[in-house]
Amino acid sequence: MKKLIDELKDSNNLSPDKLLLLLNNMDNENKQYLHTKADETRLHIYGDKVYMRGLIEFTNFCKNNCKYCGIRKGNRQAQRYRLSKEEIIGCCAEGYRLGYRTFVLQGGEDNFYTDERIMDIVSTIKSSFDDVAVTLSIGEKTYETYKKYFDAGADRYLLRHETNSRELYDRLHPNMSYDNRIRCLYDLKDIGYQIGAGFMVGLPGQTNEDFVKDLVFLKELQPHMVGIGPFMPQSDTPLANEKAGTADKTCILLSLIRLILPEVLLPATTALGSIDPKGREQGLKAGANVVMPNLSPIGVREKYSLYDGKICTGDEAAQCRHCIENRIKSAGYQVDMSKGDHISLQNN
Ligand code: 5AD
Ligand code: FES
Repeated sequence: MKKLIDELKDSNNLSPDKLLLLLNNMDNENKQYLHTKADETRLHIYGDKVYMRGLIEFTNFCKNNCKYCGIRKGNRQAQRYRLSKEEIIGCCAEGYRLGYRTFVLQGGEDNFYTDERIMDIVSTIKSSFDDVAVTLSIGEKTYETYKKYFDAGADRYLLRHETNSRELYDRLHPNMSYDNRIRCLYDLKDIGYQIGAGFMVGLPGQTNEDFVKDLVFLKELQPHMVGIGPFMPQSDTPLANEKAGTADKTCILLSLIRLILPEVLLPATTALGSIDPKGREQGLKAGANVVMPNLSPIGVREKYSLYDGKICTGDEAAQCRHCIENRIKSAGYQVDMSKGDHISLQNN
């Protein structure tokens, strides 16, 4: 297996058969070797910097009904909230004061936020704060809408493809279309966004064959960012009683993604930190180089409950910043507060 890992590191490519062979044969020794090679690759491209993004979860209303997601429309237990433009700008101002230069506005697919409202929020952020990047993560829209947001100043867009298995996708996403999701990603790229795709790890019924499809798809799409995290059941969803994904498997996939797309920006996600107290550190050591601390008002964090057991929601949330910075440093990396563009777009 080490030869396959070397081949992957040297060529940033591996046939689907070989990827499957690797995934099927991940004993501890191979795993360690894989993580080391991924960490070296990241070090070579981005050094030991970990880029920080301030995450603002501004609405948990959603018109979709994804079976895994705690803010799905069908969840009557969810306590819904929306942040006003002023509250969103307030979160950015606080983040800016703390040094953040990327703001990620994430929410359910909520029609309350019309194109005009989103454009107004984006352009206000861009004109109020010097040299910041705005990332949107608000789901599937038309080409025209994505273009309007871009023209208003949005720099980046996150839209996980969730799984590249069409069958699994259809099972988990009633009344949604896999083709439309993929169309969105290519449209976003075409418009000029830095795009982020990604998937969940450990979905009910998900196989190594499915992960190979995800990896092949990512290689083809060439996104600037890839967000992956373990599936975690949420008690008020149809998948409440399913098994969660693991940190271990997520880290293996992080390393494979780092080797396939050496320049990708790869977060150690909140879900990874939630499934295992050391998950984010393990993710960094496996090749991740982005962390997205929560800048949402503490009062709403618990309500943005995509899954049970989410970290950074309780009384200790005010301390998250120190907590995460200490974790990054003690794992052996440097906190980097700059905008943190993809390496192909960094001019310094
Ligand atoms: N477990 C893990 N991740 C989830 N997401 C949504 N619900 C869950 C869950 N139960 C992820 C999806 C989505 C992102 C914002 O959160 O991948 O794209
Ligand atoms: Fe909101 Fe899936 S439940 S996008």
